[in-house]
Amino acid sequence: MDVPVLAPETDAMRVAPSSVTPSTADPLWWRSAVIYQVYIRSFADGNGDGTGDLAGVRSRLGYLRDLGVDALWFTPWYASPLADGGYDVSDYRAIHPAFGELAEAEALIREALELGIRTIIDVVPNHISDQHEWFQAALAAGPGSPERERFWFHPGAGPNGDEMPNHWVSNFQGDTWTRTTNADGTPGEWYLHLFAPEQPDLNWNHPDVRREHEDVLRFWFDRGVGGVRIDSAALLVKDPALPEVPELVEAGGHPNTDRDDVHDIYRSWRAIADSYPGTRVLVGEVWMPDPVRFANYLRPDEMHTAFNFDFMTRPWRAFELRESIESMLEVHAPVNAPSTWVLSNHDITRPVTRYGRVDSAFAFANKRFGTPTDLELGTRRARAAALLSAALPGSLYIYQGDELGLPEVEDLPDGARQDPMHFRSQGVDPGRDGCRVPLPWSGQHPPFGFSPPELTWKAGGAAPAQPWLPQPQDWAKYTVEAQEHDAGSMLCLYRAALRIRRELDVLSDGGLEWLASEPDVIAFSRGGGFVSVTNLADRPIVLPEHHEVLLSSSELVDAPSGDGRLAPDSTAWLRT
Ligand code: NOJ
Repeated sequence: MDVPVLAPETDAMRVAPSSVTPSTADPLWWRSAVIYQVYIRSFADGNGDGTGDLAGVRSRLGYLRDLGVDALWFTPWYASPLADGGYDVSDYRAIHPAFGELAEAEALIREALELGIRTIIDVVPNHISDQHEWFQAALAAGPGSPERERFWFHPGAGPNGDEMPNHWVSNFQGDTWTRTTNADGTPGEWYLHLFAPEQPDLNWNHPDVRREHEDVLRFWFDRGVGGVRIDSAALLVKDPALPEVPELVEAGGHPNTDRDDVHDIYRSWRAIADSYPGTRVLVGEVWMPDPVRFANYLRPDEMHTAFNFDFMTRPWRAFELRESIESMLEVHAPVNAPSTWVLSNHDITRPVTRYGRVDSAFAFANKRFGTPTDLELGTRRARAAALLSAALPGSLYIYQGDELGLPEVEDLPDGARQDPMHFRSQGVDPGRDGCRVPLPWSGQHPPFGFSPPELTWKAGGAAPAQPWLPQPQDWAKYTVEAQEHDAGSMLCLYRAALRIRRELDVLSDGGLEWLASEPDVIAFSRGGGFVSVTNLADRPIVLPEHHEVLLSSSELVDAPSGDGRLAPDSTAWLRT
């Protein structure tokens, strides 16, 4: 990787041994935590079958501790046919056999906690797998049965019942209804799925659905998890009349999104979380353009935090980013919840790719194959964005591989792709596989240490197990091994940033003060003594008065001979 960027280590940056391990006793840990998202299939493979697993994560806990994270969020690790990467759960109380066993998950939760790292698991309450015993029982029991009441089964419209009951639009494109076949082979009722047909929506008016999810929460809280990430959190409650979506939707009037009753569910979940010792957090995946409706989920008796997706979807422009920061802080203030800062996740184009494009905003609908990308520019901006977001007040999410600067893999062979978003768009949308490629750890060739070398030869001398999604041949430069001793690498930047963030009290919970700056610069201080400056102008800028540069995402221009100016697309952290 290119430039050396670390300012010489100063006393201020040195971390006292006592602060290396985050305190697990702090009840407010979640307000400023650094949470690392583990997409388990692609993190590390412990048994050599080409799929990431719990053993792989356990073997890399030291890496996560050294990175400086406070918690791990695991995308679903349960039994699942993996029709949607595990967001189609067939058994919440069992670990997917490719990932390991329940006892290993328990050991992992314990071992991580011993390092001061909490575990957050994913729950997917809007839908389950079509292979889940409830759905199989509902299919077998037939129309009018109590088993079907846990879902949204409905006769079809039209004289022969062969039209969908309504025309709700799927988040995955395509239809939201699939017709069943009766036991005698005749066409039967339809069932609702806001996502893929393998993900039937649950009926949250049914007491079994509520009870079951409360039991699942207890099951995992009993095993020591520090919180849950709630998938598609605004979609659970539907208008039972299943009307079409009106042209003009009034607040709370959408038939399947953000209905007022959904909040009762989270109040009951919060009560369960609060009944456990330590703070067990609820983190919502709430895609919600209306800021007031978004903040409703964060009232003191509901979720602790929700993903702030606004910042991530904005283009690399100072005005846009500043406006997003301002509005998100404003939205959170009345409910006294901290914002979250998220640059990407397993659904989103990798930041180094996104920021290297003419249109650097993110929108699912705009993803296309062959979009020209300047990876050098994107990497520069992603480095600046990493420091900018890590300096903001609130909790910080890091998606695995962003700390290595991995680009989106855009040339996966067609046969390797798995994402229903790709297939349901008739191949127009590249889908999300490109940000889910297994991590490179070491070595010069695939699997780059993702699978343990001694285990990648199967019995009988057959071909080595390949990662479940192929890694690009030229990823040697992105491995942890290649980066960890290169002061100019993305990994060293992340490590240094998280170290400083943990060390400086002013970077924990609290607010920020904007500093006067030219329009293409984002500058703010955090509680005095610390300033973050991001230069989105096309020329170097003079830094505000400071005692020392704690960290910079690119080498300062004219340093060390001159005062040092901040290059375009860069962030510097200053002690003032
Ligand atoms: C949001 C998850 O992040 C995504 O990966 C999944 O496909 C949908 N919810 C449906 O569960």
